[in-house]
Amino acid sequence: MNHKSIDNILSPALIERRSANLYRSRRTSESPQAAQVIVDGKKYTSFCSNDYLGLANHPEVISAFQNAANYFGVGSGASHLVAGHSSEHHALEEELAEFTGRDRALLFSTGYMANIGAITALVGQGDAIFEDRLNHASLLDGGLLSGARFQRFLHNDLKNLQNRLDKTEAERKLIVVDGVFSMDGDCAPLDELAVLAQKNNAWLMVDDAHGFGCLGSSGGGSAEYFKLTQESLPILMGTLGKSFGTFGAFIAGSETLIETLIQFSRSYIYTTAMPPAIAAATRKSLQLLQSENWRRDHLNLLISHFRAGTKQLGIQLSNSVSPIQPIMIGDEARTLAVAEQLAQRGLLIIAIRPPTVPVGSSRLRVTFSAEHSIAQVDQLLNALGDILGDAAHA
Ligand SMILES: Cc1ncc(COP(=O)(O)O)c(C=O)c1O
Repeated sequence: MNHKSIDNILSPALIERRSANLYRSRRTSESPQAAQVIVDGKKYTSFCSNDYLGLANHPEVISAFQNAANYFGVGSGASHLVAGHSSEHHALEEELAEFTGRDRALLFSTGYMANIGAITALVGQGDAIFEDRLNHASLLDGGLLSGARFQRFLHNDLKNLQNRLDKTEAERKLIVVDGVFSMDGDCAPLDELAVLAQKNNAWLMVDDAHGFGCLGSSGGGSAEYFKLTQESLPILMGTLGKSFGTFGAFIAGSETLIETLIQFSRSYIYTTAMPPAIAAATRKSLQLLQSENWRRDHLNLLISHFRAGTKQLGIQLSNSVSPIQPIMIGDEARTLAVAEQLAQRGLLIIAIRPPTVPVGSSRLRVTFSAEHSIAQVDQLLNALGDILGDAAHA
């Protein structure tokens, strides 16, 4: 019998991925999150972190983490429903509820788990779920896993969504979008979506991983920016690994929503609670995120400086007011080549390729942090001018 080893069976997919310029490899970081990093032994100015407010390496956040670790130890020891729910978790949930203006908030160990756990707890067979086609993978995976009739509507196209809603007879209808789209940086039209959801008797869920901390005058994200209450936006999700600078995620909403998740969300129930020290560090970063407005102001300055600079260079950007400012290249090989040219000039920007983004839309995902200086943005603009300038003007 011709017995093939596991490696023989797996290898062709790897070879194919490499030849399509879609192969991924990891770089090893040897420094904290900052504008200047050391990666694989080389110094770079980094424009690829989601630490938008520069809180991941903030001394007060670090000491909150250290103090809590001294008291609680490192591991939480169990899931929230067994013995892992500490007073730090509980206090953070109460503070996140107040921050978001919701009845309650519930911590999840990661954003990926929050999304699949919430969606699968809320809809199932016989229900219908409608997702923007550019939603984050975790939202799409949650929709597929739920067993509800899963439909993707055209990006930010409310007519397309309405057409699909008109054709459903499902009793539970869930509309799910990113508040700020993770690979494009643009916002969902949440004010219109909230009206449309109410008109169609559908529930609206927003993943605001990239909105919290950046949008809204106190960093309350898309919900604050669009002034959406718990009534109009009943399922609000945020992650803690981006602007908050720590790790984990939460869902905020009504008492009944949160109790439903505690009872039925499998990725909440069957996993170890995040370490209490992470919750303690996040309580500190939540305070800083709200009070240190200069971080948002500086970030906005960097974003408008970059947008003005790229305009002068003839480089077109998407319609983004967020710290995510991707530069569309299209072809995978060319995107990798431009990222490599930037790396040679000491600038770290990651080439984002399918399947993370649709085929033909490979891009350099430039992100800014309050830790960047205007001089560093100028360094990036100069390099982009040299590398892309001719092509952009062609
Ligand atoms: C929009 C969005 N949702 C969810 C997640 C997943 O969050 P986490 O990294 O905490 O799993 C991410 C990225 O990580 C994201 O960009």
